[in-house]
Amino acid sequence: MPPTNLKDNPALQAPKRNKPLFTPGTAQNQALVIFVLGGPGAGKGTQCANIVRDYGFKHLSAGDLLREEQDRQGSEFGDMIKDYIKEGQIVPMEVTVQLLENAMTHEIETSGNRRFLIDGFPRKMDQAVAFEEKVVPSKFTLFFDCPEETMRERLLNRGKTSGRADDNEESIKKRFRTFVETSMPVVEMFEGEGRVVRISATQGPEEVYEGVKKGFAERGLEMVEK
Ligand code: C5P
Ligand code: MG
Repeated sequence: MPPTNLKDNPALQAPKRNKPLFTPGTAQNQALVIFVLGGPGAGKGTQCANIVRDYGFKHLSAGDLLREEQDRQGSEFGDMIKDYIKEGQIVPMEVTVQLLENAMTHEIETSGNRRFLIDGFPRKMDQAVAFEEKVVPSKFTLFFDCPEETMRERLLNRGKTSGRADDNEESIKKRFRTFVETSMPVVEMFEGEGRVVRISATQGPEEVYEGVKKGFAERGLEMVEK
């Protein structure tokens, strides 16, 4: 991995803050954030689409935002992001936290929606700490629990059509290792704080979604009327 010194990069110099940008909630100056974690191929994206439809959340996928930034003309982070993604490694958090903050602010300004499902984030302890200190503490983390063998099958299947540079055997192995070594400690930290809703994600999408709805109801989240 190339050396990165992002701390001095002017594009990432958000104003210094001694408290988060938002407090948790949906009123003025607030934002409601649910983190969505689970191994690669656990079904995070699929379930997020259900939740967006029924609960009125805005879906922000950290991986999608990174791929978008990678492809954005003139991005100074493009090459770096590409290398990290290919290797299944976690992109330096300054970039990802800033992309998320920008996307949230944009959504609030344009639609007024203050409910966010942040998918595939935080995947490393420093991301979790920086986001909650700088942007907003999350309400809870939705964790999709799935055995590696099932995830591997799903990813290889998806790889036939996804066009993703990392849905291949070699990248998948690296992504699993990163997940176990780097991302699971984050889930365990939140779990120790009683801030995880754990869902079994082995079955099909409908069965998994039943678990999600139950978990949301237990945390006092209601479906929105259409
Ligand atoms: O979530 P998704 O599988 O789309 O993420 C793809 C890749 O993007 C990850 O393997 C990692 O390289 C990068 N990523 C990251 N930090 C995140 C989310 C994704 O570095 N929070
Ligand atoms: Mg995804």
